[in-house]
Amino acid sequence: MSDRLFIFDTTLRDGEQVPGCQLNTVEKIQIARALETMGVDVIEAGFPVSSPGDFNSVVEISKAVTWPTICALTRAVEKDIDVAAEALKYAKRGRIHTGIGTSDYHIKYKFNSTREEIIERAVAAVKYAKKYVEDVQFYAEDAGRTDNEYLAKVIEAVVKAGATVVNIPDTTGYCLPEEFGNKIKFLKENVKGIDNVVIATHCHNDLGMATANTVSGILNGARQAEVTMNGIGERAGNTSLEEIAMIFKSHHDLGITTNINTRCIYNLSKTVSSLMNMPIQPNKAIVGRNAFAHSSGIHQDGVLKNRESYEIIDPKDVGIDENSIVLTARSGRAALKHRLEVHGIHLEQEKLDQVYDKFLRLADSKKDINDDDIIILAGHERLASARIKLAYLQVTSGVGIKSVASVGLDIAGEHFEAAASGNGPVDAAIKAVKQIIHRKMTLQEFLIQAITRGSDDMGKVHMQVEHNGVNYYGFGANTDIVAASIEAYIDAINKFMD
Ligand code: KIV
Ligand code: ZN
Repeated sequence: MSDRLFIFDTTLRDGEQVPGCQLNTVEKIQIARALETMGVDVIEAGFPVSSPGDFNSVVEISKAVTWPTICALTRAVEKDIDVAAEALKYAKRGRIHTGIGTSDYHIKYKFNSTREEIIERAVAAVKYAKKYVEDVQFYAEDAGRTDNEYLAKVIEAVVKAGATVVNIPDTTGYCLPEEFGNKIKFLKENVKGIDNVVIATHCHNDLGMATANTVSGILNGARQAEVTMNGIGERAGNTSLEEIAMIFKSHHDLGITTNINTRCIYNLSKTVSSLMNMPIQPNKAIVGRNAFAHSSGIHQDGVLKNRESYEIIDPKDVGIDENSIVLTARSGRAALKHRLEVHGIHLEQEKLDQVYDKFLRLADSKKDINDDDIIILAGHERLASARIKLAYLQVTSGVGIKSVASVGLDIAGEHFEAAASGNGPVDAAIKAVKQIIHRKMTLQEFLIQAITRGSDDMGKVHMQVEHNGVNYYGFGANTDIVAASIEAYIDAINKFMD
């Protein structure tokens, strides 16, 4: 058996299903190119039949990327497969990923069907997809809770029908590592033809075991790991790419190798987090900001004497360059440009000048400018074309007084002003905005986060605003947390006022 583990990245499909994480096609291409540079084998670019946006992203990613296989998801439905094949027409290497639920829960409640009929539908879908592409991957949805004997029958039938990869998802994140490993072992030992195809794992993290289950699957014979950057994905997320790559790099005695250039991990993790408005928990393995921060005196002393006393990974191996230049008010445009390019952000001279002006203003109020700050500053420039812009904001608040806010908005070139009071500065400012924008909207979620540590730091705000039964997501970042909140509120409004 080959010991090369294929890395199948589904950040742009399963990862993008997270509410509020939707990306436009340009952003998806940026991530896809970075995944290619990092060395992933397969990029799942979308579910083309689900929306014109997803269809278009698969088309454009297929054009933009050369080496990785581009994969498109379908249900076991002919129309889905037709649309996926059409979306993949520019892919140098295209794969259709079709499948159906195989657990009794799915068979009985989702499909009101029988085990025999599900096998027929699975086989028909694989044969139909084979008319378009050679490389057909089959997924047995909820395989984690599917009886092993029956799962083996399904897999044997789709292998016979021509599947090249068989994906065994733990869709609900239910399995225990030993149980999941045994499932893969059972398939290896009981499915005719299994040695001619690749077995894939696709584990969700509902019980915090996605990575453990994936590792167990691989140690029992799977050779494709389905993963996302930062472990993002529906509910508690998917197995994270960086964990799988670093586990097999650190435990090289296991003899499993990937094609991942692990030095690309840190930057790509930040890019994904920033573009998807999805903060990384500080203690996230490999990419959390505390992953390599030693605060206890004993640890610091140990690391200074010999890094390996307390660190199993050299931060440089994941692309954390301790010697990277810290940007300050004295840094020039070239340093800023370089740092943005490291994150895949290429700005024209005029845009760069605008970002640089903002950078200098921020540097006046904050000692060190970190990568998060400059990515946000560049993101701000993208917002400059929004229909509604915050012209000014003034708030008075304190203990024992009512908060008052006055707000100026520029809407499609016209200027509007309003003032209001509230039970806090954000409440007052939102009420003032509502006096200008007469739409029925309700704030559903409001999340404030400091990017790093100090009181001079940028605050990031994520908001969810409901309008006409639909949730819209807004993001703001500013050293002033009230301003960041109003920016996030206006960002959300811009999504339905466009
Ligand atoms: O979790 C799952 O089962 C999936 C399949 C569509 C592969 O995402
Ligand atoms: Zn999934």
